[in-house]
Amino acid sequence: MENRIMTSEYLPEDEGDNPLRPKVLSEYIGQNKIKDNLSVFIDAAKLRKEPLDHVLLYGPPGLGKTTLASIIANEMGVNFRITSGPAIERPGDLAAMLTNLEEGDVLFIDEIHRLPRMVEEILYPAMEDFAIDIVNGKGQGATSIHLPLPHFTLIGATTRAGQLSAPLRDRFGVVLRLEMYSPEELACIVTRSSRILHIDCDQEGSLEIAARARGTPRIANRLLKRVRDFAQVMSSGTITLKAARQALDRLEIDELGLDMVDRRMLESMIKYYDGGPVGLDTIAAVIGEEAVTIEDVYEPYLMQLGFLSRTPRGRVVLPAAYSHLGIEYNGQMML
Ligand code: ADE
Repeated sequence: MENRIMTSEYLPEDEGDNPLRPKVLSEYIGQNKIKDNLSVFIDAAKLRKEPLDHVLLYGPPGLGKTTLASIIANEMGVNFRITSGPAIERPGDLAAMLTNLEEGDVLFIDEIHRLPRMVEEILYPAMEDFAIDIVNGKGQGATSIHLPLPHFTLIGATTRAGQLSAPLRDRFGVVLRLEMYSPEELACIVTRSSRILHIDCDQEGSLEIAARARGTPRIANRLLKRVRDFAQVMSSGTITLKAARQALDRLEIDELGLDMVDRRMLESMIKYYDGGPVGLDTIAAVIGEEAVTIEDVYEPYLMQLGFLSRTPRGRVVLPAAYSHLGIEYNGQMML
């Protein structure tokens, strides 16, 4: 499972100065509503010569939250500082980052729902008043220093907006939810990526990769690279419809983008639990994955397909999944 190609989670190979990452809003494909609104907010802030209001981006992994944040910084013409919720362990870590910012900078905190409570509390005055109070010592002898900060823009990203505390959520002036991409949008992304990486990929080939990429650019780009390997070794090197199909079949990624793990999860729910309701922790134990990974990474796409439903009593496999897996549905859905 370590090498799962269909995961929308960030992998080491996605790292570095990724040439596929668009740098300006006009190069960013899809998320049209978000782009339209953001460009107004950016233009308005620039006209007023003010930093952009704090922005919260949420949605499943791999949809381009980090990319969008770096574009915002680039379009505003400011530095882009990047960190993540779990990386900031103590209030001092955040204080150090905040005091090193320059006027107008973007501070991007990925997985902001995982910020420790104590850290979150110093973020409130930082966001609201652009100042922090650092307390020295304990008890009666404690002194506090009031430290003004440059006006900065916080961009928070999370897969779970529901887990953010209300006070934190309320401090974002702009809250944007990223949607999964249509196959046509993903095909445009694949075509753009193949041009940048000098991969020969025709339009039908792009669409075939796009159709199996689970609505997620990160997966589409990863599939493009793997399909190129097959096309180079097994055919002329050009990614055509036939070459793409051959490669994706070899990778055991089906026409809807489900891989072995998805199928095994759905099949075990059907075989051992009559299709559910099954508790999340039970599913996690059966397929040997963490519950949060199932919730954040596997389930959003299965729910989007209408294959799975979350109910108060547990997860339920829906009739469309039976039909896709070629299993007869007995009609007794216990919702
Ligand atoms: N690469 C990853 N996400 C992208 C997007 N939305 N547009 C263009 N290229 C991308």
